[in-house]
Amino acid sequence: MDHFLYRNGQLHAEDVPLHDIAEQVGTPFYVYSTATLTRHFTLFQEALAGMDHLICFAMKSNSNQAVLRILADLGAGMDVVSGGEYRRARAAGVPGNRIVFSGVGKTRDEMHLALTGGIRQFNVESEPELLALSEVASGLGVTAPITLRVNPDVDAKTHEKIATGRKEDKFGVPITRARDIYAQAAKLPGIEVIGIDVHIGSQLTDLAPFEAAYLKIADLTRQLRADGHRITRLDLGGGLGIPYTRGNEAPPLPLDYGAMIQRTLGDLEVEIEIEPGRLISGNAGILVAQVIYLKQGEGRDFLILDAAMNDLIRPAMYGAHHDIIPVIEPVPGAEQYPFDIVGPVCESGDTFARQRHMPPVGAGDLIAFRSAGAYGAVMSSEYNTRPLIPEVLVKGDHFAVIRPRPTFDEIINRDTLPPWM
Ligand code: LLP
Repeated sequence: MDHFLYRNGQLHAEDVPLHDIAEQVGTPFYVYSTATLTRHFTLFQEALAGMDHLICFAMKSNSNQAVLRILADLGAGMDVVSGGEYRRARAAGVPGNRIVFSGVGKTRDEMHLALTGGIRQFNVESEPELLALSEVASGLGVTAPITLRVNPDVDAKTHEKIATGRKEDKFGVPITRARDIYAQAAKLPGIEVIGIDVHIGSQLTDLAPFEAAYLKIADLTRQLRADGHRITRLDLGGGLGIPYTRGNEAPPLPLDYGAMIQRTLGDLEVEIEIEPGRLISGNAGILVAQVIYLKQGEGRDFLILDAAMNDLIRPAMYGAHHDIIPVIEPVPGAEQYPFDIVGPVCESGDTFARQRHMPPVGAGDLIAFRSAGAYGAVMSSEYNTRPLIPEVLVKGDHFAVIRPRPTFDEIINRDTLPPWM
């Protein structure tokens, strides 16, 4: 459920008509709903209520500081994957002891930053990383709490580009070698082993791969404890999928996910961490764009929008589907027409949808891409020197710009010419 609904004939974000926002900030823009973010976070809280747990929002899905602040105020921690995200989380007011640091390529500078600024744990993904962390931590005279991210060799049955838990994927250490690496970690200065981490992929629409992975983690926990390690925390990653097509898809609910965690890991007496991103932010945001032209092609009509692949790359990158709806509510039973919905960027890949059936829309009309709150704004670029589009936050009948559209001067003046020019 989200809070983007038609009311009085037009699409609203909570109690704000989208036309009001468009008038003030111009198009295209992203808009997020505080009530939806809150609801989705709360669903996870309820799902894990019986267990000692921390929900670390995967801020790669949406890292606007206003979004982070809403979640942090509800008690969220953050899953960060770069020094930049770490800084952003801290700037949004997230305490270091609620930040977990994931990622296959943490640099020594990033380790230094987190160790001096405060960190809950590093999710270490390789032996060389372990050695580097040991060196940085002991150099600073501190101890780095770690989990080791294990690769359980489970097929998440999701899009090829976002599956991460098969042995051919670059993530984690092979589960078959985990015990050896834990033994090595236990001997290293500056390292304190506290748990295990696993993340098998994103946009999973079935609990079975999660369960297969978590059962392996349960076994590994018992083995490692028998080997003498103190395993007190399991980080189970993110990845629970969301419905991208209204009415057609029903991915598992957080409550079912929580019950499965309880069933597979509940007897281990560990603290549970999860790192959901998309399920919290995905359907809490939409992208609003304007139709620039309705162009008649050979046997097809093109809706040319003022938003493009640089603003929302998911369709071009993953062939992802986003529901696209007019902001003015179509009359019930209105006839639908097939459109190719495209942006102005000079690439054929700048296509959001082909032969998508829409009620009649034309130049000047506003349309909305649903499910754009995760991996939308964060993956945008200034390709074609198109300014990053604004982000807006709605709460009830209020809205505020939470990242303004940059001016062309700001963009262009970032380049510097070398002294010889
Ligand atoms: N934890 C780790 C270690 C991750 O790598 C990810 C996502 C998450 C948590 C959060 O997963 P989520 O709950 O959001 O599924 N750009 C792609 C998605 C990439 C996901 C990368 N890792 C997309 O637009 O579909």
